[in-house]
Amino acid sequence: MSGFDKNWLALREPADRRARALDLIDRLCVHLVAAKPHRALLDIGCGTGSTFRTLSSYVPPDTTWHLLDYDPLLLAEAERRIGERPAVRFQQHDLNDLKSLPLDGVTVVTASALFDLCSADFCNRFIETISQRGNGLYAALNYDGVMHWTQPHPLDEQVVADFNRHQRIDKGFGPALGPDATQHLRLGLEWSGYIVRVAPSPWMLGPAEAGLQEELLRGMLNPLIEIGNLSSTQIRDWLGFRLACIAPAGSSCVVGHTDLIALRRR
Ligand SMILES: C[S@@+](CC[C@H](N)C(=O)[O-])C[C@H]1O[C@@H](n2cnc3c(N)ncnc32)[C@H](O)[C@@H]1O
Repeated sequence: MSGFDKNWLALREPADRRARALDLIDRLCVHLVAAKPHRALLDIGCGTGSTFRTLSSYVPPDTTWHLLDYDPLLLAEAERRIGERPAVRFQQHDLNDLKSLPLDGVTVVTASALFDLCSADFCNRFIETISQRGNGLYAALNYDGVMHWTQPHPLDEQVVADFNRHQRIDKGFGPALGPDATQHLRLGLEWSGYIVRVAPSPWMLGPAEAGLQEELLRGMLNPLIEIGNLSSTQIRDWLGFRLACIAPAGSSCVVGHTDLIALRRR
């Protein structure tokens, strides 16, 4: 099990969909249209299939999909939600085993909310692996370290700094890149001969996303305790203030992400 809950993934999916940079999706589609003899996407760390559900309304209809995750529960949920379709395959696979990643014939590898969990070493090996085969990469919704709220609290800056520190702790791939993921990928991919485009894809969470705001805040509790810079009283006060601000005060929150697409010259 990955520790990612299907309910959390379902809660964030609409915000993710709205946040994705459309011009990068356009680039992906143009690349797929030109791909010969077929168009194939490999979605790594697919979770319950959020990337498939969002992109399948944009990409050419004959695109085939291979969805891959190491968490059997999330993969089962993806299969249940997507259903049986001839153009979609599911596979349980640990990404740390890069050597047997099924990349043959893949036009573009897709991922969302994944690379900020990964280490520099993993990203370097991943780039080397895809560049040997010429696969493209679309990596969306990488957290960029920015978080702010319309109603300020004196501890916001410290809280975000501590949360970002926690983002760099090993999430199963070695020390995570966290907010540095996109820049690290960009440099490595450009060095490997890819044309790379990056665009912001922030979550803009208003009162209509109160449920997501609340879960996001509650999910920050353990990281803040684990980092241990703030006392439990400070954390409790900050969290209490933030939760109280959501409704009826209608506080909004921005959480920064970036999307990246890297394609080889034809
Ligand atoms: C934040 S979730 C994102 C899920 C999905 N892409 C989405 O946007 O909803 C990260 C995903 O990466 C998967 N993951 C984490 N480590 C992995 C690994 N070593 N091998 C394969 N999948 C992994 C998790 O199981 C989870 O589904």
